[in-house]
Amino acid sequence: MAHRLTLLTLLGLSGSLVALSSPHETFNTSPFRARAIIPRDGDAADPPVLVNISKLPKTVEVNLTAAVTTLSLQPGVTSEVFAYNGHVPGPTLDVREGDHVIIHFKNNLPEPTTVHWHGIHLPVESDGSPFQPIAPGETHDYAFTVGPGTAGTYWYHPHPDRRTGFAIGKGLFGGIVVHAADDPLASIPEKLLILSDNRFLHDGTIDFPEPASHHGGIDEENGREGPVLFVNGHVMPALTIRSGEVQRWRIANASAGRIYRIALTGHTFLQVGSDGGLFEKPVELKEILLTTGERVEVLVRGSDVPGAKSVLQNLPYDRYAPQTRPADWQTTSDLLTLETTNETPVTPIAIPATLRKITPLDTTKVTAVRTVVFGQGIINGKTMDMARVDVSTKVGATEIWEIENIVGMDHPFHLHGFQFQVLDRDGVREPYVAWKDMLNMPKHSTARIIVRYDDYPGKWMFHCHILDHEDHGMMGVLEVK
Ligand code: C2O
Ligand code: CU
Ligand code: CU
Repeated sequence: MAHRLTLLTLLGLSGSLVALSSPHETFNTSPFRARAIIPRDGDAADPPVLVNISKLPKTVEVNLTAAVTTLSLQPGVTSEVFAYNGHVPGPTLDVREGDHVIIHFKNNLPEPTTVHWHGIHLPVESDGSPFQPIAPGETHDYAFTVGPGTAGTYWYHPHPDRRTGFAIGKGLFGGIVVHAADDPLASIPEKLLILSDNRFLHDGTIDFPEPASHHGGIDEENGREGPVLFVNGHVMPALTIRSGEVQRWRIANASAGRIYRIALTGHTFLQVGSDGGLFEKPVELKEILLTTGERVEVLVRGSDVPGAKSVLQNLPYDRYAPQTRPADWQTTSDLLTLETTNETPVTPIAIPATLRKITPLDTTKVTAVRTVVFGQGIINGKTMDMARVDVSTKVGATEIWEIENIVGMDHPFHLHGFQFQVLDRDGVREPYVAWKDMLNMPKHSTARIIVRYDDYPGKWMFHCHILDHEDHGMMGVLEVK
């Protein structure tokens, strides 16, 4: 195994680029006077977009098929993958608030699957949870209307009972972008960057060791990671930016177990949003922790001189328990190159100081306080039982969930169907209000979130988003009546 990893690291990661540092500059957050900058050719390709076959206004109707196919994910070898419409990542679902969305899904895989629209607020019948499996050869129409305030970055992936990690590792994941009619950043060119990692055998086979083997056991405990890091299915792709240009990057972590700590050499990020869309105000950061399943929206400014290169990196982050911590966890890895074109610099546009208003959920309206204790592979001492309801509540209720991770390994919390707000972490009040569906729970930490079930009765999942943990039962059922 160690030999295999080393080889693939050499194959997969280009270390030859020199990161030029340029002075950290701060963003100008004066009132809105953005002007359009047209994206150029030659950028690392975004995944294709699902084609809308509807002729009706405010309707997006698409065809999506999951099937086994062969793709070259790395130079020189091919891999048998599971793919949506033949692509890894799958094509992006690109919609607007208010759209009625219909996905005609066909399962051409040799095993049951579902499509889960991670983070989207929708009727439970379309959640694609383990309660709604689609048998091999079957079709299913998912349908939902994208509500106001949804604009943001989401993703879709399979969620079959006990097989989610395998199915995503085989290549089934894609992005969702929801646009708002009144997007204050609409004139800024944008990029969707889907991060994933994988592990391969010499012949290109995606490496899933026997569950009973030593390495299978490590994957189960640790959450499967791979040494080959992909952005939109490419190893170390390049993006171009013009000196002075501002770009909006929507970054989604589709990895099964890897938590990224991203930084762009010589630059800061202006984070403008998270899982459920824009913040109230931009926040300038040198690095961002992106847990599994999580998304961020950042503005990046071309602050390098023409011709220079910067690198988007994944910095070391110790999410691990000592027994299964990878030997190379302290290595910094490169994700993509940002190349500054030779065009004459442009004057950076001004970034709006206010992005939108987010009303904090009212803590005086709280009808119940729940306790969720994360152990190793268990929630409140139990593993998942689809016949059991762990939390029972009503439409209209507002609740606080006190989440505690009592073990020495991070476990990212995810709730289906409803965006929540974080109140505090380890007793420290959250500095700003944001809509979230993912929350990393570091080793031995606590957090409080507030959530309102404003619609959509049904049985919803909450779970650890390290997929091996989820598949082994680190999941519970919330029933909203
Ligand atoms: Cu992306 Cu139930 O998860
Ligand atoms: Cu989800
Ligand atoms: Cu976990």
